[in-house]
Amino acid sequence: MFKSKVYTERRNKLRSLLRDGIVLLMGNVDSPMSYPANIYRFRQDSTFLYFFGLDHPGLAGVIDLDKNDDCIFGDNVEIDDIIWTGYLPTIAEQALEAGVQKTGPLSKLTDVLMSAIDSKRKIHFLPPYRAENKLMLQKLLGIVPDMQKQYASVELKKAVSSLRSIKDDDEIAHLDAIQDVGYLMHTAAMKMARKGVYEREIAGYMEGLALSHGGTISFPVILSKHGEILHGHDHSNKLANGDLLLVDAGFESEMSYATDNTRTFAVGGKFSAQQKGIYNIVLEAINSCIEKIKPGVPYRDIHHHAAITIATGLKELGIMKGDVKEAVAAGAHAMFFPHGLGHMMGLDVHDMEDIGENFVGYDEKTTRSTQFGTAYLRLGRKLQPGFVLTVEPGIYFIPALIEKWKKEIINNAFINFKEVDKYLDFGGIRLEDDVLVTDKGSRMLGKKRIPISIKDVEEITGK
Ligand code: GLY
Ligand code: MN
Repeated sequence: MFKSKVYTERRNKLRSLLRDGIVLLMGNVDSPMSYPANIYRFRQDSTFLYFFGLDHPGLAGVIDLDKNDDCIFGDNVEIDDIIWTGYLPTIAEQALEAGVQKTGPLSKLTDVLMSAIDSKRKIHFLPPYRAENKLMLQKLLGIVPDMQKQYASVELKKAVSSLRSIKDDDEIAHLDAIQDVGYLMHTAAMKMARKGVYEREIAGYMEGLALSHGGTISFPVILSKHGEILHGHDHSNKLANGDLLLVDAGFESEMSYATDNTRTFAVGGKFSAQQKGIYNIVLEAINSCIEKIKPGVPYRDIHHHAAITIATGLKELGIMKGDVKEAVAAGAHAMFFPHGLGHMMGLDVHDMEDIGENFVGYDEKTTRSTQFGTAYLRLGRKLQPGFVLTVEPGIYFIPALIEKWKKEIINNAFINFKEVDKYLDFGGIRLEDDVLVTDKGSRMLGKKRIPISIKDVEEITGK
């Protein structure tokens, strides 16, 4: 946890952004895996962590906007809990760590909410994403799960997004420090990538490294020689020399902050000429996009720059044709780059996605494109100092998509399908780094960049 005053200040800032009523922030509860006592690893709700920092199940926080007081609701552990799961500080002791003086048992939360409803006060809550909290909210407020998203407070979503989007100095120092573990995980994967090794051995080792550093993985490891499957979680393939292995993985720290990097390399350590050709385009895209990141620039423009760089490179290889700007305007690049350039990152690897991507990545001035590919861009709005985001361009050869476009004659003025056919078993290449927007420009998080040049990657892979 950060110092208690960090949380008090955050709650005060939230207060200054909202008019009246009460804010209900629900923590998460333990969730059963296969029978009630066999539970998933506990993960606290990120917004609850942001404003209260307390990482235990069964808590809820109430911020009273009119009375200027905050309260933590939760039940103290009893002797049975202590016998099975150990001692926990009392709710009052925990609350003090978050700078909160008032506490109450969970049973009292219903009374507080009922009295607020009776007095016609606004109750601000965020859209719940877990079944347990949807049921709890139904019990507390009488709103059925299907309607909860609709009743969630737009004011609160906007306020939380505006605060959590700008990382403070403590968060930046922590986000910088935990990149070391991401570095270790990715370089370990490169070293292990030898013929005869199964993907699952590498994915398991990476996850083990994350656990051994006191945290976990920030999302299920994506590691596959079928890099064209954007979020492939199957790890059953045996590697052969020359296979292109895409590894997209991150560390989630003990404070639940994320890292998220992707590297793609050739098993055994030698890229083929064909692999180098595509790799260099993606490398140029990530590096030139990072150079363009600075306050005031809409991230959608940087995504567009990535699309232009990719289309230019593919044209040089004879895979695309025609005018590059027109090709990108028509969305032709998206057959190869069918996703967005990146997303916000912080307490969630896709930061605040539970609140709603459009509240986090877009605003009144920047609306989401509806074009295939760019529509998946999670962050489009103007960048501000303190944003932490990922930059993750990629080029993929997805046989089913190629087949569809060929059959339906989509963008054939810009795509040389005969040439594309030579890449049908290529897979995909994605490269991803984590970047902080600074006052004047940007910088990559962490002390050293995970090897990315062909020379550096070849040197370490399979060693
Ligand atoms: N690294 C996984 C993702 O950004 O979706
Ligand atoms: Mn990512």
